[in-house]
Parts: sequence; structure tokens; C-alpha cells
Amino acid sequence: MAGPVPELEDRAVACANRLCAADRVLLASHIDADGLTSAAIAAQALERAAIPFETVFEKQLDEDAVTAIAATDYDTVLFTDFGSGQLDIIGDHEDAGDFTPVIADHHQPADRETEFHLNPLLFGINGASELSGAGASYVLARALAAVSDDELDPSVAADGGEPSQTRRTSSEPRSDGGIVTASGAANARADNRDLAALAVVGAVGDMQASGGELHGANAGIVEEGVDAGVLETGKDLALYGKQTRPLPKLLEYATDVHIPGISNDENGALRFLDGLDLELKRDGEWRRWAGLTKDEKQTVASALVQRAVSSGVPAKKIDQLVSTAYVLSEEPVGTELRDASEFSTLLNATARYERADVGLGVCLGDRDGALERARQLLREHRRNLSNGIDLVTREGATQEDHVQWFHAGDEIRETIVGIVAGMAMGNQGISRSKPIIAFAEKNDEETKVSSRGTHSLVRQGLDLSAVMGKASRAVGGDGGGHDVAAGATVPKGQEKAFVERADEIVGEQLSS
Ligand code: C5P
Ligand code: C5P
Ligand code: C5P
Ligand code: ZN
Repeated sequence: MAGPVPELEDRAVACANRLCAADRVLLASHIDADGLTSAAIAAQALERAAIPFETVFEKQLDEDAVTAIAATDYDTVLFTDFGSGQLDIIGDHEDAGDFTPVIADHHQPADRETEFHLNPLLFGINGASELSGAGASYVLARALAAVSDDELDPSVAADGGEPSQTRRTSSEPRSDGGIVTASGAANARADNRDLAALAVVGAVGDMQASGGELHGANAGIVEEGVDAGVLETGKDLALYGKQTRPLPKLLEYATDVHIPGISNDENGALRFLDGLDLELKRDGEWRRWAGLTKDEKQTVASALVQRAVSSGVPAKKIDQLVSTAYVLSEEPVGTELRDASEFSTLLNATARYERADVGLGVCLGDRDGALERARQLLREHRRNLSNGIDLVTREGATQEDHVQWFHAGDEIRETIVGIVAGMAMGNQGISRSKPIIAFAEKNDEETKVSSRGTHSLVRQGLDLSAVMGKASRAVGGDGGGHDVAAGATVPKGQEKAFVERADEIVGEQLSS
């Protein structure tokens, strides 16, 4: 079988075979949109391969978390969206015979190797822009379908029925009499290609779409999803909320490209829409972008571009009004689940508030009313992001030579301070020409650090993963991540020393 990412194929097959050899598996994943989709992909692949498993989520895979995992009586642990950066800790447990790790991750690996380690960075693929944790998990899921197909009843995974938690053998009777319909959807399920939609949600949630679209291995996964009938892509308005926001709110809240008289301007947005010769209300309610016809969309988009041009928005910015949209074609129109970007925000709204179970339920097809609960959490998440961005913009960031920073104390939750920092970049007083470092209180002893850069700074040599790792270890903490976005934990009181060290390292990176 040629997998979705040929470079990773051999390793993926080795990992899949190892999972098939396990009696049961502990699946451990990270608490954000990418971590949740990684887990949801792995969970469905394990279910379909009839490998029993249990799922746990961790905010961070530190020494304590790995020790707790080792204390369970699972012999095989599948780590998704983390594990590579903690290979030193994990390796010690492996050596001690606590468990065999299987890792599908895209973070910078620690200085150690293990046999069942699937990571794009080991094969020359960029883990910050070409493959996410969910993408790595998808590559594994595809391999799992292929190898478990060989090993088990070849028709099991294609029967479309409820997946069973017990391993089936070909001698067991099948409820449908063993006749497999060769419809496209059933095929996509049989080889796990239907899971490409979740992989794209993970990549978008990790902000891997740069310049308006996904690249590299991610683009290959998109193609598989389109073939499998679970994804549609095309150029569309690059605004957040095309599925769920009423049109005036869609325009008012869209601030990535500022359009004078519309962005951040409730009445302006209303006047703009009223001025178009279209029926944009139905039963007194504003319609949503996703419900417009192609012609209606064209009319609104052209008027928006015209307005941007006439109010002096630079051409380069205007280009950013259009990007590639990733639509989950099997989800209902007008729901968060249909748009990869809205879906990923919905997931962050659960996982970053200790409700990863809710997000996982959503990914697995709205189990136990998870979607309604997730929507409540989303309202809270939006409020927190907006308050956080206001706070940071009001107080501004402290400028050092090469970095800028702020300390949110207990005013912003440590699990979302990085998202806030990234979204605030470019606002008044927060430059896009220096990376931003954000601190938030974690507990009585520790401070959480999040850092965000831009792709342009990365091209100039910035690697925040190295900055967070080195600067945190210099003050008795630990950290890592990606070149463009990374984090750390440091002892409380070490913030100033940390900033000084980080400032030096960034200075060195950008000068060489
Ligand atoms: O742990 P993980 O890799 O899943 O998280 C990546 C984080 O980095 C996400 O919160 C994402 O929003 C952030 N990121 C960013 N800008 C980028 C790439 C990633 O803020 N260009
Ligand atoms: O929360 P998350 O990091 O997934 O958000 C991804 C992007 O979605 C943000 O950078 C922002 O541009 C957009 N967003 C938004 N309004 C929200 C949440 C997210 O515009 N309420
Ligand atoms: O928490 P935050 O959103 O700032 O994380 C940014 C990136 O850094 C994520 O990919 C996260 O997994 C990584 N990170 C890490 N080690 C830490 C904290 C964050 O590798 N201690
Ligand atoms: Zn990730």
C-alpha cells in the first residue's frame, strides 16, 4: 500500500503492527484541537481494528504524567500529538520495562530514539507547517487499516456496523452475512480515509495553513479526504465564522484584514449589507455566509473587495481576504463542524477547559449530547479570548531588544494564554516584528510560558522551540514545541531571568 505520506510509510506500518500485537492499548493525547483530533483518529482506527483501548488526556506530558501512565497496567501506550519531546522521560520507562511506547507526533524530538516513533521531522518533513499531530495519527490510522485488514477478517472494517471492542476472527459469524458493498463511503471507512477530515481540522487548529492553505503532506491528506468524499475545498472568503455567524457579525468581527467602516463597526457592517441589492434576511433574521448561493456570495465578496480598495487597504492585504476553505462535507450546513477552522476552535473550547471528553465525543459523532455541551463551552471560550485580547492590548507588551513580553498573572488561563498572545500580535502596542512571550500563573510554584512568532521571523532564523527549551532549562524549567509557536514551564519568580536568556537566544538566532 502507498500511504498518504510515502516517507513515513515504513515507520507507520511498524507502529501499526506493534499496536495489532497488543492485547489492549492506552491512548494518551494532548489537550488542544490537534491533540483531540489526533486521539479521535487513533480511537476510531483502534476500534475498527478491534484493538481494545482506553483514552487519557494530559495538559503536558511531564515527568509526573508519564509516571502516572507507567503506573497503569497497560503494556502498550500510544502517544499522539506529544511524546517526541519527552522521549528522554519515556525512554527511561521503556528501559525499565514499564511499557512499550508507540508515538505519533510532530513536535521536536528530544535527544533519544525509540523503535515505534512516527514523526515527520525524522523524515525531513516540517512538523510545524506540513504535518500536524492529527496528520501523524492519520498516517498511522491508514497503516493500521492496511495491516489489520491482512491480519483479521478482511471484511470486518468495511461492514459499516458498530465497531466492536473485542478482537474478531474470521471464523466468527457476521451479522450482515459477509456481503460487503463496494460503495465509496464504505471503502473510505475500510481504509480509514474518512478520517482525513479530522486530520485537516487538527492541522488547521495548529495554524498550519499558511498563506491561506495547507501545504506538503497536509495537502496530500486533503486530497485523500476529497477523494473519500468527506472534504470539499475551494477558494472562499477568508473570514472566521462562515458557517455559524450571522452576516453582520461575520464582517464586524473579521479583523485579520481591517476594512475601515466595517471591521469592528457594528453599524458600518449593517449599512454595508443593507446597501447591497440582496435579500440577506430571512424571517427577520440575518442569513449566514454558508447559506448564500454562489451568486450571492460573489456579490457580497466583490462589494467587500471594492470597499477595501476604495478605503486604501493595501493590495497585499486584500489578497488575504480570500483563502482556501476546508469544508467537512458530511457535516450539516450551518454548524461549527462543517468548517475546519470553526471546528478546531470548538475543540479548543472543550480541551483547554479540562473537558477533553466533550471534544472527543464531538469528534466521534456527537456522542452523549457532546455538541450542545461544547457549544456552551465555546461561548465561554470566546468571552475569555476576547477579554484576554482586550487586556493585553490595553496593557501592551514590554519591549526588549529582540522579544516582547507580558505577564497575565491569574487574569488569563494558562491553557489559552498562547492563543491570546498569537491573536493579539499586530494590535496596537504589540509588534509583529518581534516574537511575543506570555506568562500566566500555573500554580503556586510554577509559571506557564507561551511564545508565538510569525512565519516571516522563522524565515529569518527564529526557532521558538529551541528558545523555550534552552531558556527554561537555564532557570530550572522545561519546554519545547515548534519554531513558530512553543511553550515552557518555569519556577515562579524566574520570569525575569527567563526573558533575559530568551532575549539573548532570539538575538543570536536572528543575527546568524
Ligand atoms: O501542541 P500543538 O502543536 O498542538 O500546538 C500548537 C499551537 O501553536 C496551537 O495552539 C497553535 O494555535 C499555535 N500556532 C500558532 N501559530 C502558528 C502555528 C501554531 O499560534 N503559526
Ligand atoms: O482558538 P483557535 O486558536 O483555534 O483560533 C484559531 C483562529 O480562529 C484564531 O487565530 C482567530 O483568527 C480565529 N478565531 C476567531 N474568533 C474566535 C476564535 C477564533 O476569529 N472566537
Ligand atoms: O501551550 P502553548 O499553546 O503555548 O503551546 C505551544 C506549543 O508548544 C505547543 O505545540 C505545545 O505542545 C508546545 N509546548 C511544549 N512544552 C511545553 C509547553 C508547550 O512542547 N512545556
Ligand atoms: Zn499539535
